[in-house]
Amino acid sequence: MATVQMSVRPEDLSKVPAGKERIPEPAILVIFGASGDLTKRKLLPALFHLEQSGLLPEKLAIVGVARRALGGEFAEDMRRDIVQFGSVDAGDPKLDKFVKELGYFALNFDDPASYTGLKEELDRIDKEKGIGGNRMFYLATAPEFFAGIIENLGAQGMAQPEHGLARIVIEKPFGHDLASARELNHQVNAVFQESQVFRIDHYLGKETVQNILVFRFANGIFEPVWNRNYIDHVQITAAETLGIEGRGPFYEKAGALRDVVQNHMMELLSFVAMEPPSSFEAESVRREKLKVWQAIPSIPILNAVRGQYGPGIVEGQHVAGYRDEERVSPESGTETYAAVRLQIENWRWAGVPFFLRAGKRLKRRATEISIQFKQPPLLIFDRMQLTSPCQEIQPNLLTIRIQPDEGIALRFGAKVPTTPNMDVCPVNMDFDYAAAFGTSSANGYERLLLDAMLGDQTLFSHRDGVETTWALYTPILEAWAAKKPEVFPNYFAGSWGPECSDHLLEKAGHSWRNDLGRKA
Ligand code: BG6
Repeated sequence: MATVQMSVRPEDLSKVPAGKERIPEPAILVIFGASGDLTKRKLLPALFHLEQSGLLPEKLAIVGVARRALGGEFAEDMRRDIVQFGSVDAGDPKLDKFVKELGYFALNFDDPASYTGLKEELDRIDKEKGIGGNRMFYLATAPEFFAGIIENLGAQGMAQPEHGLARIVIEKPFGHDLASARELNHQVNAVFQESQVFRIDHYLGKETVQNILVFRFANGIFEPVWNRNYIDHVQITAAETLGIEGRGPFYEKAGALRDVVQNHMMELLSFVAMEPPSSFEAESVRREKLKVWQAIPSIPILNAVRGQYGPGIVEGQHVAGYRDEERVSPESGTETYAAVRLQIENWRWAGVPFFLRAGKRLKRRATEISIQFKQPPLLIFDRMQLTSPCQEIQPNLLTIRIQPDEGIALRFGAKVPTTPNMDVCPVNMDFDYAAAFGTSSANGYERLLLDAMLGDQTLFSHRDGVETTWALYTPILEAWAAKKPEVFPNYFAGSWGPECSDHLLEKAGHSWRNDLGRKA
């Protein structure tokens, strides 16, 4: 397919004034689960990137909290991890200072008494650095500890301090079904007010996800066609080549629907489908997202399919099937692939099917949104195809590549030159993020950590939002739990998923786009 490259001229970029810097107030950031994967792979590298960019307050103390007695080892481990996972130069002069300031406190999450010690330690650091009482607690532990930590913070008066502000950031998964999400919301809101709570979904920290809103609402030409009159259907794919990366016990209980569809994919869906908010304030954005989710009628079980990978070849390597992964049951019924068809019953979208799919060990890594437009009402060229290399006139397709190859492409038909006929071939106008702006090392957490420190909840989930999305998926999870799949595994690692998923679209007269992740 031919490509027309659109690019931003470097001279235009240099004219953009530097953004107004938003520096948070002094605070102590307390990370529960400091010895875990998330802290070393994402949180500390993101915090150091913020430090490099000069976006952290002068007076910021970071204290890792975990069960193991680590002491000084913690800072040294983090230095290594920041270099490795943050692609940071080990000789960066800012790194020494940053690492030297990292604190650690060993604590048994379930033991109320040890929170007295934590409070004293935080007060001591506060006094020493003159912080003024602000605290941000980050829950990066296994989810079963969330409620206990929150309760203990409340009991010690750390959630509603006399001086300064307290905020709490809660990692996903937020509950494992509707009832547990409601209960967790109840526990959180018994201790923290909603304005103090930041439920994180790292997809919202991705530039390309935020760019969906910019694309839709900072440009005048797309909004008029962004509706049922022009759009035929929408596909949203989150395809991974990775397997479960040693997370057997977690994944066995989660599965693809809980792990990715209920949260990341529903966030993407809401950005694609929401009405223009009145401003980019948390209240307005969250309200519009919620209205989208509330307009989705319950999903018939026949419109949800699941799969599990068997052995296969991914990116040229032989890989094991899911049931042979470490700490996974050899008879596991957990889905590593899920796809659903849903409708949004409002004036903008009534009648437009939305297809969502997420899976592990698929052919290619690609998170993409495809908006397929309707064909023109009359195809005057369709009988003149005999000599054309293109079999049929294809409808316009807008693809938003969230990752990798971040960008946006618009497919349209163009006359094939030099042939005597009016032959039509699809071509692409392609905006490529890296070519236009250079690559960004941000992993999404930079933006979200900064926003949480600034108290900006726009890119965080509200309690009503998580409950509404769980309400949609809980009946499917229950139906799946009640009936073990007959044929698992049902797709080869390295394929595009199970056949039942293709049938889901065929029933609606469509097919999955499998030319993802490639610049046209
Ligand atoms: C996480 C899931 O939330 O998102 C993982 O738990 C998944 O299973 C990951 O691999 C995908 O995130 P990203 O940013 O790599 O698309």
